[in-house]
Amino acid sequence: MEVVLLPTPENCGRVVADALQAALARARDRGTPPVLGLATGSSPLLAYRELVRRHTEEELSFADVTAVLLDEYVGLPVGHPESYREVIRRELTDAVGIDPAQVHGPDGAGPDPLAAGPAYEELLRAAGPVAVQLLGIGTNGHVGFNEPGSSLASRTRVKTLTEQTRADNARFFGGDVDAVPRHVITQGLGTILGAQHLVLVATGEGKAAPVAAAVEGPVTASVPGSVLQLHPRVTVVVDEAAGSRLALADHHRYVLEHKLADQGW
Ligand code: F6R
Repeated sequence: MEVVLLPTPENCGRVVADALQAALARARDRGTPPVLGLATGSSPLLAYRELVRRHTEEELSFADVTAVLLDEYVGLPVGHPESYREVIRRELTDAVGIDPAQVHGPDGAGPDPLAAGPAYEELLRAAGPVAVQLLGIGTNGHVGFNEPGSSLASRTRVKTLTEQTRADNARFFGGDVDAVPRHVITQGLGTILGAQHLVLVATGEGKAAPVAAAVEGPVTASVPGSVLQLHPRVTVVVDEAAGSRLALADHHRYVLEHKLADQGW
């Protein structure tokens, strides 16, 4: 696992964009159209802004990209501004020119959410391996919406959000916790492990404890983010605040400083 500690959230956004861009290039080098795994929430926004900038100013192309979402709320109607399909369209995919038909997420608006998980697994299998999966982490250590207690081998399915996560996400619903859906459909931890590269981004003091638990604590379903320790290629990008509880912070800074010139992300 590579842990990259950077001074500011803006630095994190640029490094995450570098890592995503590198993964797109690797997929193309292998002759496969890239599949980009996207997260929503606040954490990826600076990286998305940077990718949009590179698309508009530096001609970074997404024409051949398929985008797959990590998760979706159950019960928000299609087009609801806080449905993750709509958020990702607004924050990234429209702006970088990814064909809407090539943007996929679990179907949280349909009549049968229980069937949506297996259907999404099928879609992911057909889309081919995810070249890079971007992740945030919840204040309780969740990744995707795999709340504490989620099986480390889980596949896409319906989950019930903790009250903590609903409270954390109320800010997207005008501060009204009752407006935050109780249920979600999320890629499972086992599903997430199937991506070729995992990039987790976290910024701010509020993420210091879950980051330390996920990166340095025991691998346990009680901290779903700790499943990252089981993946052979993980990049954790944190600002100094989110990395402030890492016991090995100095070592990570040393490794970054002495990275080989062509080592890349
Ligand atoms: C969102 C997702 C969640 C968020 C996490 C952190 O698609 O999968 O795991 O990444 O809740 O959210 P923010 O970034 O808003 O703090």
